[in-house]
Amino acid sequence: MIVVREKKEIRQNVDRWKKQGLKVGFVPTMGFFHKGHLSLMKKSLKMSDRTVVSIFVNPTQFGPNEDFDKYPRDIERDIKLAEETGVHAVFIPTVKEMYSGNSKTWVTVEDLSKNLCGKSRPGHFKGVATVVAKLFNIVQPDVAIFGQKDFQQLCIIKQMVKDLDFPIQIVGAPIYREKDGLAMSSRNAYLTDEERHSATCLFKALKMAKDLIDRDEVERAKDLFSIIKSFIETFPFTKIDYIFIGDPESLEPVDELKKPLLIALAVYLGKTRLIDNILIN
Ligand code: PAJ
Repeated sequence: MIVVREKKEIRQNVDRWKKQGLKVGFVPTMGFFHKGHLSLMKKSLKMSDRTVVSIFVNPTQFGPNEDFDKYPRDIERDIKLAEETGVHAVFIPTVKEMYSGNSKTWVTVEDLSKNLCGKSRPGHFKGVATVVAKLFNIVQPDVAIFGQKDFQQLCIIKQMVKDLDFPIQIVGAPIYREKDGLAMSSRNAYLTDEERHSATCLFKALKMAKDLIDRDEVERAKDLFSIIKSFIETFPFTKIDYIFIGDPESLEPVDELKKPLLIALAVYLGKTRLIDNILIN
């Protein structure tokens, strides 16, 4: 596995692979790998001949009071895990390498960015879409893998690729969970034991919601909203950021619970904000 820190160098390698007729897969990440990240790498390895993983904690997608500075980082461990997984190249640029100075161009994906996380993290998806567009132009992969854990992010990237004609196939990968259902996240490292215990409320609430819908026990989104809210509030250290019940394509809320439905949650456990979602077909 090669470890590359410059744009020029990753481009040269990918160029060479493409000239050999090899298909290139790409997994963009912010590092501090868990099994969710590794599952995306494995998917890319299955779908392509060469896999590139980027590790870049992107400052432009963090708000001024968010956790950019304290976001967990362990580059040496990440490099080792990527190598053990079979990845061919990791691209680890510095902030200066990615943003050379006064950037004036930003990618905004309208409408899809306005609800869910877009509401509580203004500017977040502008930072995400911009850095992913830059990474796509730098790496020039044939296929890129994104986790359904960040459902809204996946929708936004798919829309961006379509609108801006990136010749890249975007593939969604299922949410990788701990044994008790908690979705794996680099931010789980922030949780105290008590918060970690309460954190199971996200998946439990989603499963409960799915069961109620599948059994036709609830018809209106506002009733389901109240049920989910009361349920989560029974867990200590929780503060709900949002409960979204809506259309998985438009990401607009619905009144009536007609499938397909996306239920997505963002909940604070102490100071740590966790997200999770379920798609009900
Ligand atoms: P990061 O949070 O590191 O996530 C990298 C990729 O891993 C994303 O596609 C995310 O959806 C996926 N992922 C995270 N947890 C997962 C889980 N439990 N199961 C499956 N996939 C999971 O998302 C980002 O970084 C950034 O926004 C990025 C796209 C790299 C742009 O900076």
